[in-house]
Amino acid sequence: MHRHLIDLESYSTPVLERILARAMDIRRAPQAYAHACEGKILATLFYEPSTRTQMSFQTAMLRLGGRTIGFDNPLNSSVAKGENLKDTITVVSGYADLIAMRNPLEGSAFAAGLYAGCPLINAGDGGHLHPTQTLTDLVTLKVYKGGLQGLTIGLCGDLKNGRTVHSLIKTMCRFGAKFVLISTRGLTLPQYLKDFMNASGCSFRECFRLEDAIGELDVLYMTRIQRERFDSPEQYEKERRVYCLDRQKMKRARQNLIVLHPLPRVDEIEIAVDEDERAKYFEQAMCGVYARMSLLIDMLENDREEPSPIHPLSMAPACPNARCIVNHEPYLPCSFTQAGDILICDYCEERLLR
Ligand code: NCD
Repeated sequence: MHRHLIDLESYSTPVLERILARAMDIRRAPQAYAHACEGKILATLFYEPSTRTQMSFQTAMLRLGGRTIGFDNPLNSSVAKGENLKDTITVVSGYADLIAMRNPLEGSAFAAGLYAGCPLINAGDGGHLHPTQTLTDLVTLKVYKGGLQGLTIGLCGDLKNGRTVHSLIKTMCRFGAKFVLISTRGLTLPQYLKDFMNASGCSFRECFRLEDAIGELDVLYMTRIQRERFDSPEQYEKERRVYCLDRQKMKRARQNLIVLHPLPRVDEIEIAVDEDERAKYFEQAMCGVYARMSLLIDMLENDREEPSPIHPLSMAPACPNARCIVNHEPYLPCSFTQAGDILICDYCEERLLR
């Protein structure tokens, strides 16, 4: 079992700081790293659409002197012939030194990690987590806010399905962030993340109107309504276009606010806002290359073995989350961590009462 990046929670703060510090150094002097991954191969396995994540991983590896293989459309791979995740990962990890994988099923990164013979990076597992976007966001905050401590962060849009938001919250709780959760009732943050914030003593409030919150924020993190996670087009239509950041709303914001967005933008930020010097989402996408360069170096330097993360229970129940990979790939062992009366699925973090 290799050291993987499934969830940044498994990274201690000193390790996180080490990766961020190197990303900052790469940003200052990229040439010094031009041969850091020479002779290494990164496989990018993208079972879901991507522009930035996939291309920034590829760019990162190429700029470090390494090479890449992979697919961006599983229909062009043996997945189209019915190959399961276990077999694909087992084989590809023999070809590559590192794997970055994105998959629409929640918990798929944890599942892939069980079979990967090389370190594996979660590049997005359904609506669950997206840890390398969080590394990107943290580098951006360091560059444009000068640090991570004590920021008031507004998260606006699809907080239910937005994996970037879920990962960001889990990590920023360590740095004393205050959150304002701006969403409709239908797209509020999952309860497990509110519990997480409460348990880590992190303060948050929920509100509906962006204009009511924008004036108090250091960072506004806009997100797209995640159309592909809705059960019906009607439900999506009901939720879209509720939020649009425009010049009018920007007038209420502080002069030192920064606006972030993991991108792609659909209609939640007016194009004219791009000209506002507080809009930093394109710079953020560039920070993603430095963050991923640093992560690739770190993972190749520190490829130590770890014990199996599986916790099989006797009489294990099934995970109640229909989007969890264990309900789609039947060979996967169910695995739960027990917390009092509650069982937490090790793949997707769904909770159930024992
Ligand atoms: C995000 C994602 O894929 O979760 N995009 C990205 O990686 N930069 C956000 C989104 O798709 O809305």
